[in-house]
Amino acid sequence: MIDAKEYLKKMSAELDGPIKSYIGDEEPKNLMDSSKQYPYAGGKRMRPAMAVACCRAVGGDASKAVPLAVAIEYIHNFTLIHDDLMDGDEVRRGMPTIHVGYGMPTAILAGDALFAKAFQIICGLDIPAERMRDVLDYVSTAVWDLARGQQMDVNNERHIVTEDVYIETIKLKTSVLFAAAAAGGAIVGGADEKTVRAINEYALELGLGFQMFDDYLGIAGDSAKTGKSVGNDIRKGKCTCMVTHAIRSIKDPAVLEEFKSILGNIDATDEQCIRAKQIMQDAGSIDYALDLARKKVDIAISKIEDLPESEDKEFMIALAKYAINREV
Ligand code: IPE
Ligand code: IPE
Ligand code: MG
Ligand code: MG
Repeated sequence: MIDAKEYLKKMSAELDGPIKSYIGDEEPKNLMDSSKQYPYAGGKRMRPAMAVACCRAVGGDASKAVPLAVAIEYIHNFTLIHDDLMDGDEVRRGMPTIHVGYGMPTAILAGDALFAKAFQIICGLDIPAERMRDVLDYVSTAVWDLARGQQMDVNNERHIVTEDVYIETIKLKTSVLFAAAAAGGAIVGGADEKTVRAINEYALELGLGFQMFDDYLGIAGDSAKTGKSVGNDIRKGKCTCMVTHAIRSIKDPAVLEEFKSILGNIDATDEQCIRAKQIMQDAGSIDYALDLARKKVDIAISKIEDLPESEDKEFMIALAKYAINREV
């Protein structure tokens, strides 16, 4: 059985050079430095690894998927820069976020620059024109959807939305980019339409489980490991499925009042955030969310049943399990 974490490390080592090769020493230096910070700092590299693995899993030449993998990672990093600005988060990957280190104007521009560079790279893919069109369609649609999802995420702050709205939000803000990586890799690898669709669905479901687990890490993780602040989702009143479950399950009105008074209180102390987490734990909301994440991952894996057996298919399965079983 493949160890996803180890495999990711191996693929990261291979992708690191290409990821660092597209941003040079142009002027202005602060824009170059800020654009490089996240790509150079690493991260799990799940999306680029997925692009390469999906290309190879359909019998394609992995080297042709490497530029696409880089482009997807740049898009991911662009969204992280803007996300941190929007969320008011001050650390990522253990370092000051871009707007903290370089100021808001540069953070906006660094995101834009990475976004543009990604499409420049895709234009250079060594694939037939009709496949290029399909890749561009998947990737550009993903970024469009991601903006919709991020806006929904912001609109949902301090509002209790239904679980369906939560799932639609995370599908748009998170799953679609995983799906573009996976489907894009499969298209570059020459897969037929049915296989591309199956791989797309695999990544969409994986992304749901991934984000549900990420929300769990956002309240229960160790910030020394995740490299992100813990508890801020509670302070910002982010409506995760743990929150929706808690709101509909807490029986004691006094506890419900207490929970609501912490949620969305930007000045909540660490102790209050821990208390909110405990209330969710007692209401069974954390177990509920983790179970839901597990179900999404099971569905993800079932979507690629028909792919021929290979090491890359095994990695795709292991990656889906890793999405909901990680410390970072
Ligand atoms: C963080 O994604 C943003 C979310 C969609 C939750 P990752 O957890 O994949 O971030 P890195 O790239 O590993 O830092
Ligand atoms: C990140 O969502 C999603 C995107 C960047 C599109 P979150 O705001 O929930 O993720 P973290 O916790 O900041 O990584
Ligand atoms: Mg965020
Ligand atoms: Mg966010």
